[in-house]
Amino acid sequence: MTKPRPVGIAGSGFAVPPRRLTNDELAHRVDTSDEWIRSRTGIAARHVLSDGLETSDLAAQAATAALDQAGLAAAAVDAVIVATVSADMPFPNAANLVQAKLGIPPVPCFDLGTACAGYIYGLSMAALLIQAERAETVLLVGADALSKLLDWDDRSTCVLFGDGAGATVLRPCEAGYGLLGWNLGADGTGGEYLKVAPRADAPGGPRYLQMAGREVFKFAVRIQPRTCQAALDEAGITAEQVDWLIPHQANIRIIDAAARGLGIPMDKVYVNVDRYGNTSAASIPLALAEAAGQGLFKRGDNLLLVGFGAGLSWGAAVVRWP
Ligand code: UT7
Repeated sequence: MTKPRPVGIAGSGFAVPPRRLTNDELAHRVDTSDEWIRSRTGIAARHVLSDGLETSDLAAQAATAALDQAGLAAAAVDAVIVATVSADMPFPNAANLVQAKLGIPPVPCFDLGTACAGYIYGLSMAALLIQAERAETVLLVGADALSKLLDWDDRSTCVLFGDGAGATVLRPCEAGYGLLGWNLGADGTGGEYLKVAPRADAPGGPRYLQMAGREVFKFAVRIQPRTCQAALDEAGITAEQVDWLIPHQANIRIIDAAARGLGIPMDKVYVNVDRYGNTSAASIPLALAEAAGQGLFKRGDNLLLVGFGAGLSWGAAVVRWP
C-alpha cells in the first residue's frame, strides 16, 4: 500500500468568552469551596457565555485566528468541520454558521458529536478528506458551551465545565510531518455514565448534563494509555519520543494518571484546566493553540493528543510539528 498523503496543522487559534467565573463565585451558589474544586479537579476558574454570545461565535473567532495564523483567506477553505455537542441550535450546523460568519465558499460543512473526543475524531476525518484528495484545506474547530446544559444547582457537575473553542487548519504537508497515527474507539454500553437527560426526580423536566463522575474517572484512567499506545504504534514512535502530551483537560488528577501511565514526565504535558475547566470538544485544540501561541513547539516535535468522554468515546493522535 502506498503511504497516505501527509496532512499537517497549518495554523491554530482559540477563543473563550470574556465572562470568567471563579470557584469562589460558584461557592456562593452551591455547597462547594475553592479548596474542594482545586484539590479534586485542578480547576480555579472557567469562562462562560454571556451577553448573547453563542457557541458558533466562539468557533468563528477561533477559526479566524487559525486561518490568520495559517496565512489563508476564508476563500481557501474546502470543508468545515465543527466538533460540538452544544451547537447554537439543533440545526443548522454550527459549521454552517461558522461558514456564513467567515464568508467561506459553498463547500461541505458539518458538525460531529463525540463530546470530549470530538476533536480527535474530527482530525481523523479531516485527514481522510485531504488524503482522498477531496480537500486541500480543512477548517476543523472544536467548540462547546456546556454552560448551556448544566444544572447550576448540581455541585457535582456545575463546577467542572467551561466554554470555549479551538480551531486548526489542516493542509497537505511535507513527508514525515503532520498526522502520523491515530486511534479511535467507543463503548456505547457506558452511555449512561455521562448524558444529557431529565433529572431522575423530574422525569418530564428539563434536560441537564448528568455524570457518574467516579465511573468516568476510572474509564478515563483506563482508556488513555491504551488509545495513546495504539496511536503511537501506528506512528512508529514510543512514548519516550513524545515531546508534548496535549491531553483532554478534564481533571488534573486524570491528566497526571495519563502521563504516569505512559511514563511521560509532567514537564512535557500541557495543562490549562486550571484556567478554563473542561471545555469538552474545545479542550484539546484550545490547549494546542494556546501552547503553539506561546512558541512551545519546535520543528520535529512529536505531539500526542488524547481525548475521552461521553459515549463513551475516546481517541488519540500523534502529530509531528512542521
Ligand atoms: O470530559 C469527560 C468528563 N468528565 C470527567 O472527566 C470527570 C471525571 N470525574 C472526575 O473528575 C471526578 O470523579 C469528580 C471531580 C467529578 C469528582 O471527584 P471524586 O474524587 O471522584 O469525588 P466523588 O464524586 O467521589 O465525591 C466525593 C465527595 C462526595 O461527598 P460524600 O458522598 O463523600 O459525602 C460528593 O458529594 O465530594 C462531594 N462533592 C463535592 N463537594 C464539594 C461532589 N462535588 C462536590 C463539590 N464540592 N463541587
